[in-house]
Amino acid sequence: MISDSGAAATPREGAVKRALVFGVLIALGGVAVFSLVIQAVPYGRDHTNPPVGLEPVWDSPQTRELAVRACFDCHSNETVWPWYSNIAPVSWLIQRDVDKGRAKLNYSEWDRPQDEGDESAEELREGDMPPWFYPIPDPKRRLSGLERASLIRGLEATFGTEGNEGGEEHDDDDDDD
Ligand code: HEC
Repeated sequence: MISDSGAAATPREGAVKRALVFGVLIALGGVAVFSLVIQAVPYGRDHTNPPVGLEPVWDSPQTRELAVRACFDCHSNETVWPWYSNIAPVSWLIQRDVDKGRAKLNYSEWDRPQDEGDESAEELREGDMPPWFYPIPDPKRRLSGLERASLIRGLEATFGTEGNEGGEEHDDDDDDD
């Protein structure tokens, strides 16, 4: 848009401005209504955790404690549902992670066959778990470098490793904090 420099706002410019403001308000209203309407979708709202069955025999209480912090929200029946897990569309993403995570590996259902236990340490070591995409991650759940190393050792001690996992070759010493 080109306007003569120095010229005061003409009535025409005023009208354009009002139309723009009006348009933005309509758009915001639409977003607000949409945000409210999607809250009615039932998916992701039922946060009743299934009953807790047998757990693995952890090598130490510390391993369990770290796993609870870093893994249990998606791999157990003791998910702690944060407040934002009640708000669509974040609730949908979290529900999907929890459903998929439990289906693969559930530390609360060790009385059932679990194929992926011995992958636990590997997934953590390689940085595949916890997933980098965690909608609004909770800083309380983040592991320090030391805690991470100790959880890897604990998971190995608890579940063993799958086949030949490559020993020290992944010895990453990241000193980023
Ligand atoms: C935010 C949720 C979430 C957290 C936290 C999480 N996981 Fe996962 N995990 C998943 C999902 C989802 C899958 C299934 C991935 C897929 O199917 O692509 C999975 C899969 C796995 C698997 C199976 C590997 C495979 O074949 O994909 C292992 C083992 C695993 N996770 C271990 C862990 C460990 C150990 C931790 C804690 C250090 C952890 N996860 C934390 C969501 C999570």
